[in-house]
Formats: sequence, structure tokens, C-alpha cells
Amino acid sequence: MGLEFPNPVGVAAGLDKDATCIEGLAALGFGFIEVGTVTPKPQAGNPRPRLFRLHEDDALVNRMGFNNQGMDAMARSLARTTYTGILGINIGKNRDTPVERAHQDYVACMRRLYPFASYFTVNLSSPNTPGLRTLQQGAGFAHLLDEIKGCQTQLATTHLKYVPVVVKVAPDLDANEVADLAGELLQHEIDGVIATNTTTAREGLRSAASKEAGGLSGRPLMSPSTAVVAQLHERLQGRVTIIGSGGIFSGADACAKQAAGARLVQLYTGLIYRGPGLIREVQAALTAQAEQVRH
Ligand SMILES: Cc1cc2nc3c(=O)[nH]c(=O)nc-3n(C[C@H](O)[C@H](O)[C@H](O)COP(=O)(O)O)c2cc1C
Repeated sequence: MGLEFPNPVGVAAGLDKDATCIEGLAALGFGFIEVGTVTPKPQAGNPRPRLFRLHEDDALVNRMGFNNQGMDAMARSLARTTYTGILGINIGKNRDTPVERAHQDYVACMRRLYPFASYFTVNLSSPNTPGLRTLQQGAGFAHLLDEIKGCQTQLATTHLKYVPVVVKVAPDLDANEVADLAGELLQHEIDGVIATNTTTAREGLRSAASKEAGGLSGRPLMSPSTAVVAQLHERLQGRVTIIGSGGIFSGADACAKQAAGARLVQLYTGLIYRGPGLIREVQAALTAQAEQVRH
């Protein structure tokens, strides 16, 4: 992606939706921070309750629905931060923007927040915004990537700074869909891909709250999400950076993502259950594995 990361362990999107806790997250030892999802206009998200702990499964279900204060508020917050490390800005569309016009929302966020971003994540994989995931496929996907790439090229010229673009994908795609998606990423020279967001699948769970609607994260997501990393790696052959997200609860989990093809990883649910010690554990394990491969 043309960026140098102090360490490969990041915080996944959705923990700091409005970029108000960056310094605190950096102090925990993250090598990069992804804020958002931010949308052009502020929005309240879904009614509460909208976030559930699945204790017996080491998992969460959430249907937050992109609650956030909007891109102008985020810009004000980012103008005040003292953080100088790698900052990803995860962008989305407002709920009331029709899917056919989604590109306008992504482009608006890029224009407004470009000076602050180390990279942008185009979130196409939240299950909690109706229709959003359809943008990962077919003509709609190709058109969206065209618009985003055009905007990136133009902004890079105006700002004399190239900000890489990463696409965040769902774990609920079959092998053919992943292959098609990878083809489009290569075709449009997208810089990176985050695999994966939360899943709508619900197999083998024990907690009562597993029946709640929304996206499932945590331990049950580890293996399906890593499978998508491996499928992408096979197609992308190192030409697009893969960031692994989904169910990392230990150093060994992160190493499995790295072995499947991820160059960077992100934590969310594991941090909730295991606490901030997980960050150093994952960092140490990834470094040890990378050194083993080198020797
Ligand atoms: C409460 C909650 C809110 C989230 N919000 C977002 C979001 O706004 N944008 C996004 O791209 N992903 C969001 N995610 C997904 C996470 O970034 C991450 O990709 C996913 O939870 C899988 O990783 P994990 O199993 O380590 O949690 C959210 C996850 C949770 C649990």
C-alpha cells in the first residue's frame, strides 16, 4: 500500500466510530487505527438494544447501523488530534441514500476527509445497512470502484499525496464470488482488502442472544473469515495487500491469518473478551512467525 506500519496489529472499524479516542487507542500499542464507519450526514443508527454479548460463544452480535456524527464532525475531531501514526478512515453510505447513488456518499467522505487519512476503507460489507452488500458484486461493484478510483486519482493530484484505498468485504461470499471480486480489485488497481466484516451466518452457537439479527463477530468468525483471506491470497498473488479481521483471540489465531496471506491484522471482539494484553501477544507472535519464515 506504500505505507510503513510500526507494527501489524490494528484496531478494527466500529470501535471509534467518530475518531474521538485515537490517542487512547494508540497508547494501548496498536500499530494502526481505523476509525468510522463515517457517513456524509450524521445518523442515529438502529434503536437499542443493538449490541449483544454471546458469552458461551466468545462472540458479539451487533446491528448498530452506522451510528455516527457525520463527516464534518469527524473532520473537526481529526483536526484536533495529536496522533501522527497510521490512520485508516472507514467510509460508508447513509441509510437513506439509494444503493444506486452510494458512490456519491463514498466520494463525499473521501473529499472531506482526504487530508487526514493514511488510507480509506470502502465498507461494502456491513449487514446492517439494507442493500449495502449487493455493492460487492457485478456491474454495481465495477461502477463504484471506477468512481472511487477516479476520485482518488484526482485528489492525489490536488493534494500531492496518494491515499491508498482498501475494500472491506463480507465473509458470506462463496468461492466464485470471491474470485470475481478479486478480479475487480486487480482490474481497478485497488490497494488493499480487509477480509472480513461480520457474518450473517449462525451455525453451532450456544448463546440465547445468537438469535438476534445483525452481524456476528468473534471466535466463530475466525475460520470462515480466514478461509476468505486464503481464497483472496490465491487470486491476488501479493498484488493487493490483505488485512485479516475476524475472530482473532490469540497470537496463534493471528499467525493463521498471516499464514493464509494477511500482511496486517485487526482486532475488535477479541479485545473486548481478552483485554488490551492481546495486542502485544498478537504482535509478538506475528513477529516470531515472520522471522521463522525469513530464516
Ligand atoms: C460493535 C461493532 C461495531 C462494528 N462497526 C463496524 C463499522 O462501523 N464498520 C466496519 O467496517 N466494521 C464494523 N465492525 C466489524 C469489525 O470492524 C470487524 O471487522 C469484525 O467485528 C470482525 O472482527 P472481530 O471478530 O475481531 O470482532 C463492527 C464490529 C462490532 C463488534
